[in-house]
Amino acid sequence: MSKKASWVSRFSFYLLAVGSACGLGNIWRFPYVIGENGGGAFLLLYIFLAFTVGLSILVAELILGRSGEFSLLKITKLVSLQAKKPFYWFGRLSILINVVILAYYSVISGWVLHYLTQFIVGIVNENRIAYISSINMEALKNSGSLQFSLASVHLLICGFVVAKGVIERFEKIFAQALPILAVLFIVLIIRSFSLDSTSDVMRFLFYPDFSKLNLSSLGRALGHVFFTLSLGMGIMVTYGTYFKNDEHLPSVGFRVTTIDTIVSIMALLMVFPIAFLSDSNHYFTDPGILFESLPRLFVKIQYGEFFGFLFFLCLWLAAVNASIGLLETLIANFSDKFHKISRNQSTFMTITGVLLLMIFPAFSGTLFSKFKWFNQSFMENLDSLLINYLLPISGLGIIVIFFHLLNETERKEKFIDATGKNSQAMYRHWIWILKWFSPVLIGLAILLQFVNLFR
Ligand code: PFF
Repeated sequence: MSKKASWVSRFSFYLLAVGSACGLGNIWRFPYVIGENGGGAFLLLYIFLAFTVGLSILVAELILGRSGEFSLLKITKLVSLQAKKPFYWFGRLSILINVVILAYYSVISGWVLHYLTQFIVGIVNENRIAYISSINMEALKNSGSLQFSLASVHLLICGFVVAKGVIERFEKIFAQALPILAVLFIVLIIRSFSLDSTSDVMRFLFYPDFSKLNLSSLGRALGHVFFTLSLGMGIMVTYGTYFKNDEHLPSVGFRVTTIDTIVSIMALLMVFPIAFLSDSNHYFTDPGILFESLPRLFVKIQYGEFFGFLFFLCLWLAAVNASIGLLETLIANFSDKFHKISRNQSTFMTITGVLLLMIFPAFSGTLFSKFKWFNQSFMENLDSLLINYLLPISGLGIIVIFFHLLNETERKEKFIDATGKNSQAMYRHWIWILKWFSPVLIGLAILLQFVNLFR
């Protein structure tokens, strides 16, 4: 292969892994989770967990992928047979989480689509500024059917990309959208930083007040690490199969974690200066924080309606990319399980299942608004159960499977690069974090959250 071709293919593998990690989790979810959990101290905790627990499991998933099997379901079955223990439940759990997360993710992607169309209308509207100023979440919050329809459009487009085998073409479009998104981010952060609230925001984000942490903080930070790095669902196992054998997977993992963290922090710097201008405290702990703040920022920028349109277009492409990862993994598992079914049939069945599940998050604020537990709405409970409890449990499963599938020699061989120089010591640290530190922290996080629920 020519130098250029191998560089291009290397770039596209990175694009897959980074593309799956960076998405609504960084830009939509991270700001409100930080707002909800008091800022700086939680941010520090999050970064620490991302580079210990998150990175160690990410590398384990990539290495599992390189060991040859495509789907986590298949790997867990294999290990179950070898160990004569019911480890296949971990595979099943990961599939369950994958389906529900896809349903949930599609609803939020539908919100992005809504804003995208609003900005298109804003561009053609005579009084653009007044129109953009009036864009808000109310229409969405009050209409389950609107949320359901938008989410369905999103999901069907993803299904089309997957079923028609045009993923590569989509990847090219996505690769072009990324630099645009990066430039927009920088423009918006600069504009955000010229607002009066900057010093308050800096104090909130970078001055850690540890009294703001509570028993749930560990679990929430850990859950978000899993979600944002796409861990616990076998997605990174699939991507691990794509990297060539000479690629040093621990370095891939480190780069993906670093890029993901930088994108998340940039999202904070973009959203919070605007959020702090509002006098309501409730505002920046709300899942709508991104959507409520950005239009106010675009109003302050010349040609803001075009910037707004471009921003939501790129964000939606990122959401499509992440959703395709989820959908592909589901279809791969489905086809593995039922050999007689064609790929199109499994795509159809997966999409139908997810569409049905989407009813719950889409109508959570309307039809299911009375279903409240632990002082939280239906959507908040769903988010918490999935991300703060089930994903870390599934991460534990990945660790168990990893140590059962590969022996010491195989692990070492797949971790250490050709030169072997720096990797020996790193290997020992990594194994220690994976085997002892991560399981203890995951167990502790779940326990503390549970205790906090009933306090
Ligand atoms: N990591 C993605 C994000 O931060 O938006 C979300 C995600 C994608 C989670 C794929 C899980 C997944 F399997």
